[in-house]
Amino acid sequence: MGKHLLVVIVFTLSAGAQQQDENPYRSPQDAVEGRRLYRFYCVNCHGMDGASGRGTRLASPLRRHGSSDREMFRTIANGIPGTEMPGLWMDEDTVWKILAFVRTLEKPSAVACEDMPGDAGRGRELYARHACARCHTLGMSGGRLGPDLTGIGAARSRDQLRESILDPDREIAKRYRTVAANTPGGRVEGILLREDDYTVHLMDAREEIRSFSRKDLQRVERPPRSLMPSYRGALAPADLDDLLSFLCAQRSAGGRP
Ligand code: HEC
Ligand code: HEC
Repeated sequence: MGKHLLVVIVFTLSAGAQQQDENPYRSPQDAVEGRRLYRFYCVNCHGMDGASGRGTRLASPLRRHGSSDREMFRTIANGIPGTEMPGLWMDEDTVWKILAFVRTLEKPSAVACEDMPGDAGRGRELYARHACARCHTLGMSGGRLGPDLTGIGAARSRDQLRESILDPDREIAKRYRTVAANTPGGRVEGILLREDDYTVHLMDAREEIRSFSRKDLQRVERPPRSLMPSYRGALAPADLDDLLSFLCAQRSAGGRP
């Protein structure tokens, strides 16, 4: 009986904490503790400074998935489905302490997009002219072969964006790795959606979902290049600046989950 009561109390307390809108752990000591946890769970993808690694940039206060304590609690605890951001299945206190440390990383962006060279309006035209939307969603529309670029200006620095455009093969998010299969009907290239011992499902370059039985495939290769072409040489330096200014200005989540 006593034990049950205790379980009920603990459950109620933790359910109560989840309703909390503000981080109860905000002292410098909490941030120190959070730093230790961050070093263990997060550093590989986000870097100790929150600015390096393959995860999104945490070193600015801009967030694609919401910047309130409650929203960030949810992001850290549950992860972001469909991306490499895993959920941290830990108790709430741990999540809050990590958040206390993440807050110390947030430095106001050194430069506003408007202060950088380039004209975002012209960048928008170049985005259309180079058919970036064929593979990328921005706001409500666009393709799905590449990552959603809604809010990308909050998630990536200008240098990272430049590298993505000029050198797309250099770092490819796991979910967007190219796969190529020799099928009875010819070679098909695309992005791997799902595979198991018997089947392979991929999205081909026309965004069609193709499913194959493994026994019909000679081999499934993973060529180390992106489906995204490099725009090195295809964009004049001034055009690249314009395009970067346009992407930099994409800083609001626009209803993204
Ligand atoms: C395996 C790599 C990986 C690990 C480990 C990881 N993250 Fe992430 N994280 C990502 C990626 C990738 C994104 C960007 C997802 C997107 O928006 O496309 C992200 C996004 C985020 C965001 C949202 C940023 C925004 O703009 O809204 C926060 C906050 C965050 N991570 C914090 C953490 C914390 C804290 C930890 C450790 C508990 C952690 N991450 C561990 C890869 C990782
Ligand atoms: C044929 C499809 C395709 C086209 C066209 C394309 N991309 Fe991509 N893009 C991808 C894929 C796939 C990835 C993810 C793999 C990688 O990083 O290279 C990507 C990645 C990116 C990233 C990195 C996103 C992130 O989360 O860090 C940016 C930025 C980007 N593309 C911008 C552009 C711009 C700007 C254009 C037009 C000038 C463009 N892309 C044209 C397929 C495409």
